Amino acid sequence: MVYAVVGANGRVGRLVAGALLGAGVRVRAIGRDAARLRTAFGCAVETAAADLGEPASLAAALASVERVFIASPVHPQLAAHQTNLVGAARAAGVQRIVKLSGSAWTMQPGSPTSTGAAHRAVEEALAAAGIEHACVRPNAFMQGSLAEAPRAMARGSFELPIGGARVSYIDVADIAAVAAALLLAPRVAGAVEITGPAAVSGDDLAASAAELLGRPVAYAPIGIDAAVAKMRASGAPPFLLRHLEEVLTLIRAGAAAATTGEVARLCGRPAGSVRDFLRASLAAMSADGPLR
Ligand SMILES: NC(=O)c1ccc[n+]([C@@H]2O[C@H](COP(=O)([O-])OP(=O)(O)OC[C@H]3O[C@@H](n4cnc5c(N)ncnc54)[C@H](OP(=O)(O)O)[C@@H]3O)[C@@H](O)[C@H]2O)c1
Repeated sequence: MVYAVVGANGRVGRLVAGALLGAGVRVRAIGRDAARLRTAFGCAVETAAADLGEPASLAAALASVERVFIASPVHPQLAAHQTNLVGAARAAGVQRIVKLSGSAWTMQPGSPTSTGAAHRAVEEALAAAGIEHACVRPNAFMQGSLAEAPRAMARGSFELPIGGARVSYIDVADIAAVAAALLLAPRVAGAVEITGPAAVSGDDLAASAAELLGRPVAYAPIGIDAAVAKMRASGAPPFLLRHLEEVLTLIRAGAAAATTGEVARLCGRPAGSVRDFLRASLAAMSADGPLR
């Protein structure tokens, strides 16, 4: 059986392909740049170049594939791209699709976020296609929302735009482990909402970092406007600025604080905590030189 990973160069897709390889199954890594995929995976996986905006390229890449994982970035064409994938998979005779979807709290009916609405549209297309499927709805990624925090913590103070809210951030390794488990399971159905093991505030993160570093660390809350301005200064396009503003508004109202036990149920081990993430990030930084 061939398992295809669409978005295999991405944060989650790369780990899904690795988990499938670890399980000893046949993997085809799909992305726009086959040379990059070969550099990443060597000859351990098959590679195929395809663009989600070009259905003919997807048809060729999915030949003789039975199960597919799909992740693609936040983009104005997210719904169109992933719906193309669903159509090509149906035509190619794919038997199961596992989709990386949006956070559950961005996808409520009459979705308050543009990206959540796009993911919902793809989930509806999947249901209408009549292919067995599962949709993984993860909370905010530690490796996204907290990516810059460890380096700033080592300097004594870090900024986050979450106010006094708590967030049950999830490790991307757990998202990939859940997706791989769903790809390999005898059967699947429906949506799975996955979170980290606990909801943490900025002050909780500061306390964990202070304990790990052995010196005081301060949480410096910033507003939505400041976070959006920082992203704009980095050259991000308008749709990403809108996405950030929409999700931060919900996060600050407490929407991302729920926890579920789905990682433990599906993977047979607890989800990684933010403390584990901070410990690993700070250790990796200290290997590069003294932390200050
Ligand atoms: N960040 C969060 O906190 C969070 C929370 C919940 C849900 N999500 C969802 O997670 C998803 C992003 O996951 P991720 O971070 O793993 O993705 P990612 O790293 O941003 O991207 C995945 C891959 O998609 C490929 N890609 C981009 N455009 C493509 C196209 N037109 N055709 C084919 N492949 C294309 C890229 O590879 P190539 O360049 O090689 O083609 C890229 O490596 C989004 O849908 C987002 O809504 C994120």
